[in-house]
Amino acid sequence: MASKHPFARRILIAFVLMTTLVSGLFSMSIVAVVHFIEEHLVSQELSNELDEVLHVDIRNGKPPRLDSSTRFFASDIAKYAIPEQFVGLPQGFSEATDDGEAFYVYTHEINGNTYVLVQQQQEFETREQALFDVVLAGFLLTVIMAWGLGVIMARKVMEPISRLAQQVRHRDQLNPLAPPLAPEYPDDEVGQLADAFDSTLGQLRQSLERERLFTSDVSHELRTPLMVIASSCELLEESPLPPREREQLQRINRASEEMRELVQTFLQLARDKANEGAPTVNISLAAVASDQSSRWGALLKEKGLYFQCLSEAEDSGLYNPTLLSAVMGNLLRNALHYTEHGFVRLVLEAGAFRVEDSGSGIPLEQHESIFQPFVRGTHARGEGLGLGLSLVKRICTKNGWNITLSNLPTGGTCFRVVFQPGVESVQLS
Ligand SMILES: Nc1ncnc2c1ncn2[C@@H]1O[C@H](COP(=O)(O)OP(=O)(O)OP(=O)(O)O)[C@@H](O)[C@H]1O
Ligand SMILES: [Mg+2]
Repeated sequence: MASKHPFARRILIAFVLMTTLVSGLFSMSIVAVVHFIEEHLVSQELSNELDEVLHVDIRNGKPPRLDSSTRFFASDIAKYAIPEQFVGLPQGFSEATDDGEAFYVYTHEINGNTYVLVQQQQEFETREQALFDVVLAGFLLTVIMAWGLGVIMARKVMEPISRLAQQVRHRDQLNPLAPPLAPEYPDDEVGQLADAFDSTLGQLRQSLERERLFTSDVSHELRTPLMVIASSCELLEESPLPPREREQLQRINRASEEMRELVQTFLQLARDKANEGAPTVNISLAAVASDQSSRWGALLKEKGLYFQCLSEAEDSGLYNPTLLSAVMGNLLRNALHYTEHGFVRLVLEAGAFRVEDSGSGIPLEQHESIFQPFVRGTHARGEGLGLGLSLVKRICTKNGWNITLSNLPTGGTCFRVVFQPGVESVQLS
C-alpha cells in the first residue's frame, strides 16, 4: 500500500523512530546495569563490614565502628536486639522500608545466631536519581538531535530528486536542443533516474519532431495542389460558362478555400501556437451558425430529419471562423450520422451554443471517454475513425471553451459549447 506521507517526512519519521528505539534501549540497559551493580556492590560492602564488626569489634568487646547511616543488630546480644521489622528477612542482601525510609539490609546467620547490618539508602538513592535524570535528559536530547539531523538529511536526500522533478517538468525539456539531465547528477539511483528521463524525453522529442515534420510536410504538399485548384478556378471563372457549371465551379472554389483554412487550423493545433500564421478575421456566432446551417441543414432534411436553428439570446462575441466552424460542423455531422428519426437543433445562446438531436444518445459511462481520440461509441457507423469529438475537444481546450455532453430527457444527445466558462459561472452564481 502506498504511504500518504511525503518521502522527506518518511525519512524523518524513520530516523527519529530508529534513534528513539536505539537510545531507549541504551538508556534502559543503563538503568538495568545500575540496579544490578547497586545490589552486588552494596551486598559486597555490607558483607565485608559485617565481617569486620563481628570478627574485630564484637570479638574484642568493642562497639561496632560504623558510619552514622549504618547500624548493627544481633540476636544473641541484648544491647543490639534486632528490631521487629528486620526480623525474619532472608539471608544475604535485601531491601526494607520503615516509616517511609528505605534501607539496605544484610542478614547473616552464624551458629544459629542472626546478625543484621542495616544501612540507610538515601545517599545512594540521591546519586541514583541524579544518574537517571542524566540518562533521561540524554535520551530526550538524542531524540531532538535525531529530529534535527533527520530534517537536514531528508532535505539533502530529497534535494537532487526535487531538482530533477523541476527540470523534467520544465517545458524547455521538450526543446530538441535541451541538454541531457544525467551528466548533472552523480552515478547513483538519482543519476539512473535522470538517465531514464533522458531516454524517455528523447523518445518524446523524436515523436514530437516527427509530428511537426509530418504536419508541415502535409500542409506543404497540400498547399500546392490547393493553389493549383484555386488558380484553375479563377481562370475558369473568366471564361464564359453556363449557369449550372458556374455554380459547380463556385462550390469547388469554396471547398478549396475551406480546405486551405482547415490545413491552417491543423497546423495551428499541431504547433501549439494559436497566433502563428496568417491573421484570421474573427466572426460572430450567428454568421458561423448560418453558414453551417445552410451546409448541414440541406443534408439533414435530405435524410428526413427536422432541422432548426434557433437563437435563444443575442451573442456579441467574435470567434475564429475556421475553429468555430470545425467544432460546430463536427457536432452537426455527428448529429446527422447518429440520428435516424426526429429532429436536429442548433441553439444559439449568449456566449454558448448547443447541438441537440433525437438520436440514439450516448450511454452515461461513455461521456468522458468519447472525447478521446479513436474512441467510437456503441452506435458507431460508417467509415468514421472516432477522431471528430477529440478534435472538437482539442480546439475547445485550446481556445478556453468548455464542451459538455448530456442526454436529453427524450433520449437524444445535447453537446453544449460555452465560450467563456468562467464568465458564465460568475453570471449564474
Ligand atoms: N450525436 C450523437 N449521437 C449519438 N452518438 C454520438 C453522437 N455524436 C457522437 N456519438 C458517438 O460518439 C462516437 C465518437 O464520435 P466521433 O465524432 O469522435 O467519431 P466518429 O463519428 O465515430 O468518427 P469520425 O468523427 O472520426 O468520422 C461515435 O462513434 C458515436 O458512437
Ligand atoms: Mg464524428
